[in-house]
Amino acid sequence: MATHNVLVIVGSLRKQAFSLRVAHALAKVAPASLKLDIVTPEGLSWFNQDIEANPPADWVAFREKIQKHDGVIFVTPEYNRSIPGVLKNAIDIASRPYSKSSFNGRVIGIVGTSPGAHGGVSAVKHLQQILPGISGPILQQPEMYLGMLGDAFDDKGDLVKDSVKPFITNYMAAFADWVAKHKA
Ligand code: FNR
Repeated sequence: MATHNVLVIVGSLRKQAFSLRVAHALAKVAPASLKLDIVTPEGLSWFNQDIEANPPADWVAFREKIQKHDGVIFVTPEYNRSIPGVLKNAIDIASRPYSKSSFNGRVIGIVGTSPGAHGGVSAVKHLQQILPGISGPILQQPEMYLGMLGDAFDDKGDLVKDSVKPFITNYMAAFADWVAKHKA
């Protein structure tokens, strides 16, 4: 069975982030055909077009990391009905140089998270607007808006909320099929 490498980009810098915990939960239930690496935007400097011709080492390393993977799953909270600025900065960095986006050819998944009721749906919708011109095919179904996460994890960060578990298991199965279809 072919193994596909998937980079999970978490849209939060918070140490106890629900998004980071969801990323680990996704990795735990991922089918054996997928190998997941998890990163956050920690340590990425600001995108600045003035220094594009001579990019800093952190941008280069981030781009190269994405390029080594077959797929990318964004797991993001919603900030003010959009994605957090740190995630947008990371995407802007990876999207350049112009027409050479590191996401090109990568199969994309998007997971919204929130302790609130709406599960980060507006952040997901904004990613679905941002990514099509700079990425490979985006998995549209199943949609993944994980809300009410306040009681979903134990003190160690493990997922304990039974109602959430089928969603993440089904999502990773669908993502594995999506990667296999596009990266055969
Ligand atoms: C939020 N939060 C939030 N939640 C939501 O469902 N919709 C929203 O629009 C916002 N807006 C928002 C803005 C800002 C600046 C902050 C700091 C927070 C609450 C947010 O979901 C909560 O803080 C989560 O814990 C953030 O995700 P992580 O870091 O736990 O993954």
